[in-house]
Amino acid sequence: MSKQADRIIIFDTTLRDGEQCPGATLNIDEKLVIAKQLARLGVDIIEAGFAFASPGDFEAVKKIAEKVGTENGPVICSLARAIKADIEAAAEALKPAVHGRIHTFISTSDIHLEYQLRKSRAEVLAIAQDMVAYAKSFMDDVEFSPMDAARTDPEYLYQVLEGAIAAGATTVNIPDTVGYTTPSEFGAMIKGIIENVPNIDKAIISVHGHNDLGLAVANFLEAVKNGARQLECTINGIGERAGNAALEELVMALHVRRQYFNPFLGRAENSEAPLTNIDTKQIYKTSRLVSNLTGMLVQPNKAIVGANAFAHESGIHQDGVLKNKLTYEIMDAQIIGLTDNQIVLGKHSGRNAFRTRLKELGFELSETELNKAFVKFKDVADKKKEISDWDLEAIVNDEIQQTPELFRVELVQVSCGSNTQPTATVTLRTPDGEELTDAAIGTGPVDAVYKAINRVVNVPNELIEFSVQSVTGGIDALGEVTIRLRHESRVFSGHAANTDIIVASAQAYVNALNRLYSALHKEVKEKVTA
Ligand code: KIV
Ligand code: ZN
Repeated sequence: MSKQADRIIIFDTTLRDGEQCPGATLNIDEKLVIAKQLARLGVDIIEAGFAFASPGDFEAVKKIAEKVGTENGPVICSLARAIKADIEAAAEALKPAVHGRIHTFISTSDIHLEYQLRKSRAEVLAIAQDMVAYAKSFMDDVEFSPMDAARTDPEYLYQVLEGAIAAGATTVNIPDTVGYTTPSEFGAMIKGIIENVPNIDKAIISVHGHNDLGLAVANFLEAVKNGARQLECTINGIGERAGNAALEELVMALHVRRQYFNPFLGRAENSEAPLTNIDTKQIYKTSRLVSNLTGMLVQPNKAIVGANAFAHESGIHQDGVLKNKLTYEIMDAQIIGLTDNQIVLGKHSGRNAFRTRLKELGFELSETELNKAFVKFKDVADKKKEISDWDLEAIVNDEIQQTPELFRVELVQVSCGSNTQPTATVTLRTPDGEELTDAAIGTGPVDAVYKAINRVVNVPNELIEFSVQSVTGGIDALGEVTIRLRHESRVFSGHAANTDIIVASAQAYVNALNRLYSALHKEVKEKVTA
C-alpha cells in the first residue's frame, strides 16, 4: 500500500500549470491575491510557479512563500526540471516558506525520450535519482514526476519510481501529460504501481492530468479508488490546452458522493467526515477571482461554478424543485458559497464600513489600494443604490488588476443609435503623462472605441474574444467586460467592471494593451541589458 494519508490532499497548480494557458498570464500581485485566496479555500499545497523559468516567476514564488507560506499556511511548491540550476532556483525562491516543496520532473515515455530528451532509459533513470537526491539536499519535502507517465512502459515506470523514492521523494506524481488515458486504465496503473514498486509505502501517490478527452476528473476519481491520495488540480480547470482536472469538480464529487468514496479510504460508508480540507463555501468566490484575473471565462454550463450550474429552466424541474429541492438538486448552492451574496453597502456607507466589509470578505488592501477602491466604490454607489458582496469583489478585483497602469482611460464618449454612424472619442493618459485624444467611427460603439484607442496606443493587435456579463441581476448592475487580444502569437487578457459597459469595454481593452505594452518593453529592456 502507498504511504497512507487518511484524507485526500489537494495540490493546487492554478498558478503554475493553470497559468501556462495562453493569455492567462498574471502579474506578481495578482498571483499573490490568488495564493491568499487558495489558502483561505484550504488547499494543502500551492504550486506557486516554476522559479527558474523567469525572474518574474522566481519573484512570484518567493513572494508567495514569504506571505502565504506561514506556519499554519499551505505548503508552497516550485516546479523544477531535473536539472541542478532549476532545483537551486526553486530552493532559493522557497526559502521564506515555513513548509516548502521542490517538485522535480523528467519525461519517461519512450516517445519523449527518443524525440525530446534524446536520452536512453538508463540515463533518465540515473538523472531522476540524482536530481531527487539533489533536491533532498535542500529540503525534506520532495515530489517527483515522471512526465508522460500514462504513456510510459509500466515496468520502466516502476523502476523510475522505486529509484526516486529510494533517493528521497516523499510524493510520486503520476502525470497524464497529454490527457490520453481512460478511467479504468488510470486506475489500473495506480494499482500496478502499488503492487510493483517495493518501497511505495514510503511515498504518497499523486495524480496530475490534462483534460484533452474530457476525462481528467473521472481519471482522478478512479485513481483515488485505487490508492492515489494527492490530486493536482486547478481552479475552473484552467491549464495547458484543454486544461487540468478542475479542483471544484473533484472536491464536490468527493463531498457529494462521500458515502461511495469513504470505503476506498478505509472509512465507514456513512462517515460524515470530509474527505478533503477544502472550505467548500470559498469555491465560488475563488472561481470568480481566478476567472477575473486570468481573463479565462467560465462556460455557463460548467459543472459546479458555471452560471447555469444551479439554474432550473424546464417547467418539470422547476415544479419538482419547488415541491422538494431533492427532486432535481444533488447539492445546495449554499455549499459553494453561491448564495452568500448579501446587499451590504450603499451610497451613504463610509470608508470604515467599506474597509470592514472588505476585511470580512478576506481582502487585505494597502492604504493606496483601499483609497483607489473607495473612489471607485463611491462612483458605483452613486449609480447603483445597493452594493452587494459581488459588486465589492468586482470593484476590488478591478483595482488589483490595473497594474501595470501604463495607459489610463481619462475619457470615453460615444454617439450611436439607429441611423447613426457609431463614433467614439477617447482620451488616454500615456506612460509619459501626456493626454492624447483621438476619435474613430466603427461598426458599433465598442468597435469605434477600440479603433480610437488603437490610434493612440499604436501597437498592432487582433481582438479574439469579447464578453460582457452582469455581476448581479437588475438593470443597474455592474457590467464585467473580459477581452483577449493577440499580438503576434501571444495572447493578453483584460478585465474591467463598470455600470457603463462602454466604459468597462474601454478599460478592459486598455488593461490588455497595458499588459502587452509592458511585455514588449520588458523584452526591449532585456535585449538592451543582455
Ligand atoms: O502535465 C505534466 O506532465 C506536468 C508535469 C510537469 C507534472 O505538468
Ligand atoms: Zn501538466
